[in-house]
Amino acid sequence: MTNLTITRPDDWHLHLRDGEQMRAVLPHTAKQFARAIVMPNLRPPIVSVDQALAYRQRILAALPVALGSRFKPLMTLYLTDNTPVAEIIRAKESGVVHAVKLYPAGATTNSDAGVTDIIKCNAVLEAMEAQDLPLLVHGEVTDSDVDVFDREKVFIDRVLSPLTQRFPRLRIVFEHVTTHEAVQFVDESSHPIAATITAHHLLLNRNAIFQGGIRPHHYCLPVLKREIHRLALLNAATSGSPKFFLGTDSAPHSLSSKENACGCAGIFTAHAAIEFYAVAFEQAGALDRLESFASFHGADFYRLPRNQETITLQKKQWIVPQYFEFAGERLIPLYAGENLAWRMVL
Ligand code: DOR
Ligand code: ZN
Repeated sequence: MTNLTITRPDDWHLHLRDGEQMRAVLPHTAKQFARAIVMPNLRPPIVSVDQALAYRQRILAALPVALGSRFKPLMTLYLTDNTPVAEIIRAKESGVVHAVKLYPAGATTNSDAGVTDIIKCNAVLEAMEAQDLPLLVHGEVTDSDVDVFDREKVFIDRVLSPLTQRFPRLRIVFEHVTTHEAVQFVDESSHPIAATITAHHLLLNRNAIFQGGIRPHHYCLPVLKREIHRLALLNAATSGSPKFFLGTDSAPHSLSSKENACGCAGIFTAHAAIEFYAVAFEQAGALDRLESFASFHGADFYRLPRNQETITLQKKQWIVPQYFEFAGERLIPLYAGENLAWRMVL
């Protein structure tokens, strides 16, 4: 196959940052995707509907004119120990906030204001269940005694599984799953739970972090796992199951904050997101399943209409730029300077 036309996809997990950094990365996403679920882990985090509305306006104002009428940012709130129930009601009524994100405190970038103990959120979770507002989870425990490669697996047993039992109707997205245990949990659960899968976790295993030396641009959270886990993710993404859908977790950090004694977690993939997924799906011999994963399952889960327009990908090698400008710094994209076999042409 050399040409592939699919319904325009959506990105159900995206970091856009703010200000000049946002203006640098937003066009990459807006040129490919119709909509994106925008993560709230700014500094300070987006904890109120008013903040989400203002952030949404800044995103809309930053859109290139040609894409301005087409791309829709879908906003989220950052859950804290102190999120008031009233904010959940307001969020639902706003029609603009589509979900609430749970970051366990300390789990990742800008998560210090995150939840210290999920029990503190009981009333809010009850309200979300009643309002049918989805909970998005960064599924990793943060206990320092738990091995960094086991944090997702342990989260399932300690937090996620009890959560699904306590709130049987709460819609949950297990974000950026990285292990076969997470895939299996979502697959077998009778709970209204789905999962996003990133392109980088489909393409890379943990060897990529140590290829001939330490590779900070392959460091993200949850961290890349063993090959058996990558294969489980690829299998889930290409299975046709509506429980799995596209979420890039594209997470831009400047070169200096990545190439650092304590480098930030995050991989930037927005410049070629749909192409990366195409490469992974082709590897699995499942290009015919790309459209449902990228363009249908997420919209159906969020109960939003499927997009009407299409995009076309062509099998045509090109070289990914070495870097992009990023608010006066450099941003190193995934596959910098390397060949990519697919390219979006329309
Ligand atoms: O690698 C990551 N980067 N994982 C996250 O959970 C957050 C993200 C970011 O915001 O940089
Ligand atoms: Zn993320």
